[in-house]
Amino acid sequence: MSSSPATPPVAPDSRDHTPSAPVRVERRGAGEDESRRANSADWDRYADEYQATHGEFLGDCGFVWGPEGLTEDVASILGPVADRDVLEVGSGGGQCSRWVRVHGGRSIGLDVSHRQLQHSRRIDENTGVVVPTVRATATALPFADASFDIVFSSFGALQFVADIDVAVAETARVLRPGGRFVFSITHPTRWMFPDDPGEPGLTMSQSYWDRTPYVEVDDATGEVAYVEHHRTLGDWVALLAGNGFVITDLLEPEWPEHHDRVWGGWSRTRGRFGPGTAIFGSVLGSTGR
Ligand SMILES: C[S@@+](CC[C@H](N)C(=O)[O-])C[C@H]1O[C@@H](n2cnc3c(N)ncnc32)[C@H](O)[C@@H]1O
Repeated sequence: MSSSPATPPVAPDSRDHTPSAPVRVERRGAGEDESRRANSADWDRYADEYQATHGEFLGDCGFVWGPEGLTEDVASILGPVADRDVLEVGSGGGQCSRWVRVHGGRSIGLDVSHRQLQHSRRIDENTGVVVPTVRATATALPFADASFDIVFSSFGALQFVADIDVAVAETARVLRPGGRFVFSITHPTRWMFPDDPGEPGLTMSQSYWDRTPYVEVDDATGEVAYVEHHRTLGDWVALLAGNGFVITDLLEPEWPEHHDRVWGGWSRTRGRFGPGTAIFGSVLGSTGR
C-alpha cells in the first residue's frame, strides 16, 4: 500500500511500496498530462524497489499476467507469437517481451519510465535476450499504422492513462487487421473495496460506478504524485467494441491453493473470495478502424 499510515486506503494501487515523501490520497479528477507526468516520475522513483521486490516472481524471461501468478505458458491467450511482430505497452523490465523473444517473436517494449527501461537493459545484458525498447506513452504510440500482429500489456499503462479512448484507438491503429490485443488490469470490482490485503479489504465501501481517479498528492508540494484510473467491465466492453475489437476472452484467475505471496492489496485472504485481476483478449475486426 502506498498511502501514508494515517491515510485510509481508498482504491486499488497496483504498486506495493511506501512513498518516498508523505502523500495524501484523494479521489479527484486528473487529466492525461497530469497523469502521465505524475506516473512517469513515480515509476522512475519506484522502479528499483519494484524490480528488487518482484523481479524474481516475474522471472527475467517470464510472462506473468498478475499477482495470482498466471503465466502465459498456462493461459495461452496471446496466440502463437513465433515470427509475429509484438508490442508490449508498459513493458517495465521487459520480462514478458523477453518471453516472447525466447518463443520466436519480434517483441518491442514501450514504457514511459526511463528507470524501468534501464532495468530492462540490465536484464537484457544479464540474460543475453535483448528486447528493443522505446520511451513513449500509450496514448501516442510512435509506430506506423498496421505495424504489429499482437499488442499486449501486463498491468502496464492502461490503468495509468486518463485518455483511455485514445490509448485503445492507438492500439487499433498500430495493429494489423486480425491482430490481437490482450491486457491485464486490476479487476474493476476491486474498486469497491479498500486496498488492503487483510480482512478490511473484504468489506465493500465504495461505489463500483465511481470513475473518479485515485490520486496521491505530495503533502509538501501539493503536486499530484501518482494517479490510477478506473473503468467498469461495461466501460471496457464499450471501449473495445467501439474501436473495432471483438472480445474473445475475459480471464479472471483464481487464487492458487498454495500461493501465499502478498502483492499490495492482492493476497490469499481476498483472492479466495473474488478476482483481483481481469485479462481481456480481443481481435481487431478485419476492417479495423
Ligand atoms: C505495474 S508495472 C508493470 C510492468 C510490467 N508489465 C510487469 O509486469 O512488471 C506498470 C508499468 O506501466 C508503465 N506506465 C505507466 N504509465 C504509462 C504510460 N502512460 N505509457 C506507457 N507506460 C506506462 C510504468 O512505467 C510501469 O513500468
